[in-house]
Amino acid sequence: MSLSVGIVGCGAFGRHFIEPVRDHPQVGRIALCDLDEQKLAECSKQFGVEECYPSLDEILHTDIEAVMIFTQPWLHAPQAIQAMEAGKHAYTAVPVISLPSGDEMLDWCDRLIEAAEGTGQIYMMGETTVYRPETIFCRRKAAAGEFGHYVYAEGHYLHDMSHNLYNVAKWRWGESWDDSKRGGIPMHYPTHSTGGIIDVTGAHMTHVSAVGYTMPDEDWFLPDTQAGNTMGDMVGLYRMSDGSMARIAEMRRIGTPCLETFRLYGTEGAFERNFSGAVWLTRDGQEPVDLSRVEEPLPEKLAAAKGGHGGSHSYLVHEFVMSCVEERPPRVNAWQAVRFLAPGVMAYRSIQRDGEMLEVPDWGDAPH
Ligand SMILES: NC(=O)c1ccc[n+]([C@@H]2O[C@H](COP(=O)([O-])OP(=O)(O)OC[C@H]3O[C@@H](n4cnc5c(N)ncnc54)[C@H](O)[C@@H]3O)[C@@H](O)[C@H]2O)c1
Repeated sequence: MSLSVGIVGCGAFGRHFIEPVRDHPQVGRIALCDLDEQKLAECSKQFGVEECYPSLDEILHTDIEAVMIFTQPWLHAPQAIQAMEAGKHAYTAVPVISLPSGDEMLDWCDRLIEAAEGTGQIYMMGETTVYRPETIFCRRKAAAGEFGHYVYAEGHYLHDMSHNLYNVAKWRWGESWDDSKRGGIPMHYPTHSTGGIIDVTGAHMTHVSAVGYTMPDEDWFLPDTQAGNTMGDMVGLYRMSDGSMARIAEMRRIGTPCLETFRLYGTEGAFERNFSGAVWLTRDGQEPVDLSRVEEPLPEKLAAAKGGHGGSHSYLVHEFVMSCVEERPPRVNAWQAVRFLAPGVMAYRSIQRDGEMLEVPDWGDAPH
């Protein structure tokens, strides 16, 4: 069977996925779609893709079987639901993030699950962390039982605002940018720091108590914005469904290079990653892990150019395409995607209640 795939959103991120989709041996037809005529024309020419559509609404009226959505993050849940209801398999870069209201985010989680269940279409969230080499390495160790029982995990997404985030916010809003859109809520985009831990351990967060930090002279996270949040750094302490503990840190005011990764400790072995490298630890000592040599099987062309975010792009495309072709739930299906997201929503709510321990909602496992 060969699949037809539409890439919706040919902006800064989406365009990196055109080549691996075009070159995937199970993809027989690729189409591009963007509201912006210029971006569409540029990508069509650069990647030699002729079939183009000017909006999501239009591509959903075609017989394309699956759409990969790379539009602005606050559009993903409604657009994925719209696509599934139109009979398409849907992929989004995140489930739903960056909305100022936690209630609204949880409501979108409900609706995403309802749509995935009700339509029977495949939904996949393209969380890059899940295919970074450290996650692949830890998955193998986990499958071999080498961690023993999980004890404690730390997930962090260190991304200082000065690393291009002011510009990212402005270009994503485009003409509708104004000063009220400054700021945001770091814990409302927690999937890079929660995803690796949840994927490897198979456990999920059940309770959280969280705190936040406001930088002196803060000039971006301000009360008079849509989000009304003043904290650029947030840390949550979690109880996990397997009895272990985890700490998640979402940092936007931090004097380090960017890093999205995790550490994971078990009763028999542990994995640590920092800026200088990665190590596997046991009671007897430690051995360095060469992450550049860690990989999973991929079709030849995708393996030759894995793409950005730790080489995750090719894996994400391969997993989505194969889950559609094989008609099976992808690794990060709708049920797993909301498990990556809800812990952050509840962490921010806990911060607003002075660190009160709160329950994290759960939508259960994907039905087989
Ligand atoms: N590590 C990661 O996982 C990672 C990294 C970067 C970006 N992202 C995510 O990727 C997504 C895209 O980010 P970006 O920086 O490329 O944004 P962008 O603003 O550069 O691109 C979004 C594009 O979507 C198009 N679009 C919006 N609505 C549309 C519609 N209805 N129909 C067709 N096209 C439409 C816009 O015209 C724009 O070109 C975001 O959700 C972002 O969070 C994830």
